[in-house]
Amino acid sequence: MTDYHIADVELAAEGKRRILWADRNMPVLTSIRERFSDEEPLKDVRLSACLHVTAETANLMRTLKAGGADVLLCASNPLSTQNDVAASLVEDFGIKTYAVNGEDRETYYDHIRAALDFKPKITLDDGADLVSTLHSDYPEDISGVRCSMEETTTGVIRLEAMAQDGALKIPVVAVNDADTKHLFDNQYGTGQSTVDGIIRATDVLLAGKTFVVGGYGMCGRGLANRARGMGAHVVVTEVEPVRALQAVMDGFKVMSMDDAAIIGDIFCTVTGNTTVLTTQHFEKMKDGALIANSGHFNVEINIEGLEMLANKVNRNVRNYVDEYLFSDGRSVYLLGEGRLINLVAAEGHPADVMDMSFALQALMAEYSMKNDLTPAVHSVPREVDKLVASLKLQTMGIEIDALSDEQETYLNSWEEGT
Ligand code: ADE
Repeated sequence: MTDYHIADVELAAEGKRRILWADRNMPVLTSIRERFSDEEPLKDVRLSACLHVTAETANLMRTLKAGGADVLLCASNPLSTQNDVAASLVEDFGIKTYAVNGEDRETYYDHIRAALDFKPKITLDDGADLVSTLHSDYPEDISGVRCSMEETTTGVIRLEAMAQDGALKIPVVAVNDADTKHLFDNQYGTGQSTVDGIIRATDVLLAGKTFVVGGYGMCGRGLANRARGMGAHVVVTEVEPVRALQAVMDGFKVMSMDDAAIIGDIFCTVTGNTTVLTTQHFEKMKDGALIANSGHFNVEINIEGLEMLANKVNRNVRNYVDEYLFSDGRSVYLLGEGRLINLVAAEGHPADVMDMSFALQALMAEYSMKNDLTPAVHSVPREVDKLVASLKLQTMGIEIDALSDEQETYLNSWEEGT
């Protein structure tokens, strides 16, 4: 078997330019790469990663390889692969890569199987498809996996469900839950890149539009703020009362999706849950409504329901836009086939923010080789989180204060009051 499957190796030169451009905005990861090449903490470790194949991910792969690992990368989504990056990974960086933009479900899982046939000691996952396939189809190889790192909220939720069921047999690290990941990547990364994806797909003007955000987790928060910043009237829908209240006090209109469906011009789901937009909502939407998703899986919009309700579908009325026509003369437009619009129609989160997420991934891969973790979902240690924040501040040229001895004593005492 050849050790790659990509769309077109001829695209390598463009991919390399984009990888090196992204690298300029990933100084924390670069500093880790330099240390890794001296120390080789991952020497001879087989490592399989199932991540979005982007320029930023390429720089993580280079870092892991510099650390001595034998690295393989497969796609974590059929539509997010940047074919030029995949080509450059193979051609310029010698990294085994299995990812073709637009691959069908069978090929997607063939690629995941290639990643597991590699018999990795460490795995990196974005959405937990690799770990879940390891447990269901490769039981004999589970004991060979020392640890897995999980990149996204949806993946962590899945892994926690596995642990709850007693099904999780390997240690996993919830990289997503580190402060230097979800407070930045989920919020500022998803916020900006989702708006970017919707605009690149449609060229819509956000100013003056009613923009409905489904879900007010860190991703929803980022998206709502960025859409507001571009002049949209933002409506938030939620199922969790504390988050809904936060959205209210952050100044957003909060209502049920049933009510929002009537007034929205643009809808974007970011809940990590299923069937957030359903036929009962499509039936009420305005003619011309745009519907997108930026959650990990393409289950947040009930696409089957949309197909059933429509009496005609015009595919690709513009790149990434399918028109669904209803018998009453209305049309709604589904963007990016309901897959994460920030990676399908744009380039995912900018390098500046992936710098922190992927610094955590690299540091936790190293940590997992030095520490024996039990089969459970583990947090990123606080000192690693703080290290990434400090390094990022340093690269931004920002100095902060340190606690004085007096402050340290005060914080550790309980006797002093009014
Ligand atoms: N997830 C979101 N944005 C990403 C990016 N640019 N690279 C890899 N994974 C991502």
